[in-house]
Amino acid sequence: MTENASEGANTLSIRDNRTGRDYEVDILDGDVIRAMDLRQIKVNEDDFGMMTYDPGYTNTASTRSTITYIDGGKGILRYRGYPIDQLAEHSSHLEVAYLLLNGELPTRSEFDDFVHEVTFHTYVHENIKELFSGFRYDAHAMGMVMSGVAALSSFYPEAKSVDDPDARSQQIIRLIAKMPTLAAYAYRHHRGLPYVYPENELGYTANFLNMLFSVGSREYNPNPVLEKALDILFILHADHEQNCSATTMRVIGSANADPYSALAGAMGALYGPLHGGANEAVLRMLTRIGSVENIPAFMEGVKRREERLMGFGHRVYKAYDPRASIIKRTADEVFEVTGRNPLLDIALELERIALNEDFFVERNLYPNVDFYSGLIYQAMGFPVEMFPVLFAIPRTVGWLAQWEELLNDPEQRIARPRQVFEGASERDFVLMDDRT
Ligand code: CMC
Repeated sequence: MTENASEGANTLSIRDNRTGRDYEVDILDGDVIRAMDLRQIKVNEDDFGMMTYDPGYTNTASTRSTITYIDGGKGILRYRGYPIDQLAEHSSHLEVAYLLLNGELPTRSEFDDFVHEVTFHTYVHENIKELFSGFRYDAHAMGMVMSGVAALSSFYPEAKSVDDPDARSQQIIRLIAKMPTLAAYAYRHHRGLPYVYPENELGYTANFLNMLFSVGSREYNPNPVLEKALDILFILHADHEQNCSATTMRVIGSANADPYSALAGAMGALYGPLHGGANEAVLRMLTRIGSVENIPAFMEGVKRREERLMGFGHRVYKAYDPRASIIKRTADEVFEVTGRNPLLDIALELERIALNEDFFVERNLYPNVDFYSGLIYQAMGFPVEMFPVLFAIPRTVGWLAQWEELLNDPEQRIARPRQVFEGASERDFVLMDDRT
């Protein structure tokens, strides 16, 4: 930043009316200025200097990234340049995982190596079973898996070497491989069923379904339509740039914590009902509404701001979430196999009203990724407590891609926002007996 600089092509001029001083700051690519360029705007030499106030980071870029591109106005989502609908149609979750982590689609041999690596790291240490046995029978699956992920950091102390690229890729493979195993164990614990070990002959999604649903020695053959549908859902959930949980992953990662600890924190963020916990909240909401006749009264409650229409609205999308349209199509295919989820009629009517009523139209409230996904999960036999876990499994890839990018970015430093302090100024301590 230069004070009183002459007019330039790619700069922003700022006049501080308190002092009458003019400043000129560089505009970086994409309508961005550096927040630190504002620091030298001050009234007195010993002032702290100007900063921005942005609760919820609604207008703050925390990183440069090459992973995921979203145009919220146009409803565009791309991973490494590839449109999400093309990936959902032609790719697989593990191929998308490779793409997100490495920046390019794999060749056949690169893909085979990657699949082999992931497949042979699916087992978790036997002691994880003991950890899980300490949970109550009705423990929420997300709490169990989050704890399992945090516990893994103690099994792999070398994960602390976050400056070592080889150690990092080892943990990335382990996490992608072990998440479905932890998730399936949590589900089996809830059901009181024995844990099923990973089956290395099966693909990523089929192995997950096998660990969840196989009973006894009977061979379990996942329905290919359901297996494909789950894989598509995994692709759609794999990354979504700097959302709440990715930011959490980066914030914890910026302190050089190991990836298991950072990922457990990211899972905590995802668990919230305004983020990935929304899929569970949508199902509970649809169940509570109960029937189409009850919708008008429910919507009146939303408009009176007594509650939110879960699965609607998004910080970035101000158009239809492209993932929601793909999920809606996938739901039709799943229901052909499982039978129609009776809650679908309520969901469709909610969407119809929301897309036509002023309250929702004025606020650009469209269905997001979580609105229809729960209906598919429920039709496939998942209890609602598993829904956020089904989000966390594929998002593990995105979190790790964001973490890897963070650690390779020389501009990144430990995350540490500022505050605008509005508390008491200095005052003297009063002994307890002297307080009124
Ligand atoms: N139902 C009713 N009103 C809403 C909703 C909703 N779902 N979402 C936003 N609004 C209203 C909100 O009251 C506000 O109105 P006003 O300007 O009159 O005060 C306006 O729309 C803007 O909302 P906001 O809360 O300032 O927007 P935000 O960007 O801070 O929040 C959100 C985004 C996703 C948290 C929010 O839309 C929401 O709570 N949606 C429901 C939960 C949900 O479905 N979350 C999943 C998000 S997508 C997947 C993911 O992130 O993991």
